[in-house]
Amino acid sequence: MPRLCSGEDSHRQADKNVRLRRMLAIFFAKTRMGWTVANCHQQGPWPDRGGACGEASMLKSPGSREVSICGGRPERHRYGLSCRGTTSSNPSPSSGESGYSMAEHPAPVLITGASRGIGEATARLFARKGHRVALLARSAAAIRSLADEIGGLAVPCDVTDEMVVRQAVRKSVAEFGGIGIVINNAGTLEPAARILDTKPSDWTRNIEVNLFGPLYVLRQTVPFLPKGGVVINVSSGAAANPLVGWSAYCASKAGLSMLTRVLAIEESDARGIRVYGFLPGVVDTEMQVFNRANRMNEVGDLKREALRPPTEPAQIMYFLCTLQAADLNGQIVNARDGAVRARAGVPMLG
Ligand SMILES: NC(=O)c1ccc[n+]([C@@H]2O[C@H](COP(=O)([O-])OP(=O)(O)OC[C@H]3O[C@@H](n4cnc5c(N)ncnc54)[C@H](OP(=O)(O)O)[C@@H]3O)[C@@H](O)[C@H]2O)c1
Repeated sequence: MPRLCSGEDSHRQADKNVRLRRMLAIFFAKTRMGWTVANCHQQGPWPDRGGACGEASMLKSPGSREVSICGGRPERHRYGLSCRGTTSSNPSPSSGESGYSMAEHPAPVLITGASRGIGEATARLFARKGHRVALLARSAAAIRSLADEIGGLAVPCDVTDEMVVRQAVRKSVAEFGGIGIVINNAGTLEPAARILDTKPSDWTRNIEVNLFGPLYVLRQTVPFLPKGGVVINVSSGAAANPLVGWSAYCASKAGLSMLTRVLAIEESDARGIRVYGFLPGVVDTEMQVFNRANRMNEVGDLKREALRPPTEPAQIMYFLCTLQAADLNGQIVNARDGAVRARAGVPMLG
């Protein structure tokens, strides 16, 4: 039974409100895949987002756990509890960033690898759109400076240590009152070496960062995701294409793509969350500087001018978090796909 607030009348009224909101939430959950989760136990100033007292509890779906995220602080009701994307079924290809508003009440986002490159660009975009963003990476100074700039939360974190990930997630949840969007972006290309020249310890490190890291983040965040929550795992075209010198990277990203697909069948329907794998294309970041320096394969031969800016994958990931992308749930979405680019409003590739 939910904890009630005060007095017999307010008990009865609170019960009525809870039942009513629960029915409405189920209705929206079944029809819109939007944020439909909060059932605070007393009417508050944000009736569609929960109330002003007590705990907010997630609407329980078959096979899912009920998760309390509020902790009784009124301001925590403000985030992630009733966030619905716009429902235009015909987004304009040229609409750009502003063509698909995420929601009236943007959900808090947790992004790993936010210190630079694609993760940084993604954090900037979500912050610009009004989301609170938890920035996770090892480079504490870089994420603190970005957090100061965009109003985010810097949480230094090495994703290869599950206890550290757990603490980082808990800190973000405590600060924001929940998490609605998880972007597993941290990754490494190293080692760049042919299989017979690779030290197993370097290979292991790559798997720890690119595969175990996302696994730990998923284990620690998915239980907090409300209905309508979104997971994006940033994989790579290398997951499906063997490339000389990248055995560890190809193998870890192939593993991540499969991890994504399994998560989708295990948790998407059960929890009412969306799960995407994402291939960002060849993007102008430090990873490609390293790649050009090592030139293990044809990707390292690409001229910098041929690479795409990190703002493009950021924009596509933003699109994936809107309801317009719900039909892509469970898929590995490729940034090079013209239809995806058009829908996300990013320029076509030449
Ligand atoms: N750039 C491309 O062309 C391309 C293509 C396909 C896929 N991707 C994927 O896109 C993602 C982002 O790549 P990027 O190009 O932006 O690379 P990047 O510029 O090298 O950035 C990598 C990010 O991952 C973080 N990171 C690395 N190891 C970490 C660890 N142990 N714990 C926490 N954070 C860690 C780094 O932060 P710290 O060093 O501060 O920890 C950094 O923020 C990666 O998963 C990559 O595989 C990139």
